[in-house]
Amino acid sequence: MLKEFWQYISNSTENLVAKKMGFLTESIAMEARANRCQSSWGVHYQHCQKAILSASIRAVQKRTVLVLGAGSLYDVPLQFLSTEFERVLLVDLVFLNSARTLVQPFDNVELIEHDVTESLERIMVGFPFVDTPASWLDDPSIDLVISLNLITQLPLIPVRWLIEHFEVSEQEGDILGKQLILAHLLYLQAFNGEVCLIADREGVEFDSTGQETDRFDPWWDVEPPSIAHPKVEHCWQWEVMPVGEVNRHKSQKNRVEVSFL
Ligand SMILES: C[S@@+](CC[C@H](N)C(=O)[O-])C[C@H]1O[C@@H](n2cnc3c(N)ncnc32)[C@H](O)[C@@H]1O
Repeated sequence: MLKEFWQYISNSTENLVAKKMGFLTESIAMEARANRCQSSWGVHYQHCQKAILSASIRAVQKRTVLVLGAGSLYDVPLQFLSTEFERVLLVDLVFLNSARTLVQPFDNVELIEHDVTESLERIMVGFPFVDTPASWLDDPSIDLVISLNLITQLPLIPVRWLIEHFEVSEQEGDILGKQLILAHLLYLQAFNGEVCLIADREGVEFDSTGQETDRFDPWWDVEPPSIAHPKVEHCWQWEVMPVGEVNRHKSQKNRVEVSFL
């Protein structure tokens, strides 16, 4: 707890929205969780890194790679991308000091703190309207885009924020959640380069005896648009919450899928 408090005051994010709405706190908690769950999360990170390696083979040219939701960077094959591409742009709302240290040896790697929904400033002051993101769409050098364990996370904090601070109803929150997911999909489809989506597609909860207790759709029931209907290239189970992590009687596994849009 003390360590996490120290991280909070020592991590300088320039993004005020990230601090105010709780994304910085969430990133610190995520990092602590990743360290506690090293064995199960490590396997997931290896799968993600391999998926990015395979995705880069599909890029016809290797000028710029854009990774959205890079966060901790544990799931990013940094050395590989830095060697393979002329420019590596890593995007997230928050980068902790640990991520800043990891990129230091690489001259062609940039960390960019940016809201990929381009809607949070408005949501923070109580307007539940979703913009269509446009950043980097005009950069013709982007040959590969990776959306990395991000899409299902986009609605979580904004919807909770609006319900808690602006008396937005559950139903309105649900609509906004769906809109955020859909807008991200449409944004990805608008790129000219190769686009790889790495995302959890299903969550399953178990009791302490290993019996399934719940199964849910982390995409808020949004179907990928039919024109994209991404073909799943690869998938794995991520033990996101081993028994004892949050609750002694509960665990959770997510099915993570890799697809190309
Ligand atoms: C599940 S984490 C994945 C991060 C990283 N790939 C990893 O596994 O450590 C989701 C990431 O999405 C980021 N994120 C959530 N909403 C965002 C937004 N609107 N814009 C940019 N990043 C966002 C969070 O800061 C977090 O780092």
